[in-house]
Amino acid sequence: MKVELITYPNKILKAKSEEIKKIDDSIIKLLDNMKEIMYKYKGIGLAAPQVGINIRVTIIDLQKNDPGFGLVEMINPEILENAGEFEEHEEGCLSVPDFYSPVPRGKYIKIKYIDRKGEERTIETDTFFSVVAQHEVDHLNGILFIDRISPLRKELFRSHRRKMHLKTG
Ligand code: CO
Repeated sequence: MKVELITYPNKILKAKSEEIKKIDDSIIKLLDNMKEIMYKYKGIGLAAPQVGINIRVTIIDLQKNDPGFGLVEMINPEILENAGEFEEHEEGCLSVPDFYSPVPRGKYIKIKYIDRKGEERTIETDTFFSVVAQHEVDHLNGILFIDRISPLRKELFRSHRRKMHLKTG
């Protein structure tokens, strides 16, 4: 199956994704396809709902932003601990093009997941990876970063949308 990036306000992005019971070829293929799409659009993270599939899979590659991490592929990720407050930072999303906003996020997280080989893994971090992982796990719960921004920022988002509509007719 060919997968494509979907964008707001597609309803798939608002749905809660299903846990994966078995890692079969279709999951491996999906991981590979998602990687291709993420690099094509120069993203640093991508979740399965963003390619139209509501299952709990997400990938992160911070490339040059956080040299401690390479490509991380997470199946059924679960944030076990979330503490502190990450300093002000702008967030964006491939599914919400051309809009950026600060989002309140925890600083330290402990996240557990299963890798493509079926091994259970845990990451504890308080670097930028923490923010991206929280953003991606949100996707699996039907939450977009624009759902977490202040009312004033939401108003900016709405006017940004109106402008985009004018541009595209
Ligand atoms: Co996103």
